[in-house]
Amino acid sequence: MILSIESSCDDSSIAITRISDAKLLFHKKISQEINHSKYGGVVPELAARLHAIALPNILEECKKYFQDLKAVAVTNEPGLSVTLVEGVCMAKALSISLDIPLLPINHLKGHIYSLFIDNPKTVFPMGVLLVSGGHTQLLHVESYEKIEVLATTLDDSFGESFDKVAKMLRLGYPGGPVVEECAKNGDEKRFDFTVPLLRTPKLAFSYSGLKNQVRLAIEENPEAKNDICASFQNIATKHLLHKLKKVLQVKKFDNFAIVGGASANKYLRSEIEDLCKKQNMTLHVADLQFCSDNAAMIGRCAIEAYNLGKFANLDEIEINPRTNF
Ligand code: KG4
Ligand code: ZN
Repeated sequence: MILSIESSCDDSSIAITRISDAKLLFHKKISQEINHSKYGGVVPELAARLHAIALPNILEECKKYFQDLKAVAVTNEPGLSVTLVEGVCMAKALSISLDIPLLPINHLKGHIYSLFIDNPKTVFPMGVLLVSGGHTQLLHVESYEKIEVLATTLDDSFGESFDKVAKMLRLGYPGGPVVEECAKNGDEKRFDFTVPLLRTPKLAFSYSGLKNQVRLAIEENPEAKNDICASFQNIATKHLLHKLKKVLQVKKFDNFAIVGGASANKYLRSEIEDLCKKQNMTLHVADLQFCSDNAAMIGRCAIEAYNLGKFANLDEIEINPRTNF
C-alpha cells in the first residue's frame, strides 16, 4: 500500500491506496474553506497552521495500515510553499520512522490521475483540460512522463476568476460553487462581456480582462448579482471552448477529460460534453468528490511513480511552488 499526503493549498488530506489494483482503502480530507472564507481567498500562513493540526489527526486513523506500507507519497509541487512543507515534513518523518521510500508527486499530475481512482487502468493518450484555482491548461497526455502543454493562461486561471468575481460580489470563498449557484437564477445574455483573446490566433487563455469587465458591471449595476454571475460564467466558458476548438482543428483525440476543482462546474461540463459528442471524443471526468484537491488522486498517481521507481532521497525532495509540467 501507499500512504499519500496532500497539503498544497487549503485541503489537508491523506489516503491509503493498494498498489496491486489501485483500490482506495482509506481517504479523508479536512477542508479549510470556512476558515478562509471571510478573507475572500486562502491565507497561506493560516492554511499552514491548520494543516499542522489536521494532518496528524488524520494520520492517527491510518495507523492500522502502517505495517503494510511500501512507500509514502506527497505533493511537493506546485502549491503554496508554506503549506507544501507541512505535508513534505510529515512524509519525511514517516519515511524515516517506517523505513519506506519517498515518492514526490506533482499536484497537476495528481489531478490527471483523479480520473483513475479505484481503477487500475488508465486511458492514454488523451486531451486534458485542467481547470483549477492555480491553473488553466490544455494538455496532451501520453503517459505519466510524457505530457505536452498545448495552451496555458497568460494571467489568472479559470477557477481563480470565479474566486475573484465572488470576492467582488462579496459572496465568500471559494467562488466557483457560489457563482455557479447564483448563475442558475441569472440572465446570461444581460451583460455583453467580450470573449478574451477572440481575435488573436494565439493558443492561450486570459481571464484578467474579463474580471475587469465584471468589476465595471458590478460598479454600474450593484443589484444585478445573478445576471452578472450568469453572463460571466457564460463568457468564461465560451473562452475555454473557443480555444479548445482551435486546438482540435490541428490535434485529434479519441479521449478527452476535464480535471481540477473547476471541472465540478456543471455548466462547463455540459458544454464540453456537447463538444465531445460533436467531435466523436469520449469524455472522462472524475467523480465529483475527487475534482477538488484530495490525497486519493495523489495516491493513484503515486502508483505509477512507484512502478516507474521515481523515489527521492530525503535530501533530494524539493518544494517547488511554481513548477509546471
Ligand atoms: O483543484 P482545486 O481544488 O485547487 C487547486 O489546485 O487550485 O481547485 C479549486 C478551484 C477554486 O478556484 C474554486 O473556485 C474552483 O476550483 N471551483 C469552481 C467550482 N468548484 C470549484 N469553479 C467553477 N465552478 C465550480 N463549480
Ligand atoms: Zn488542485
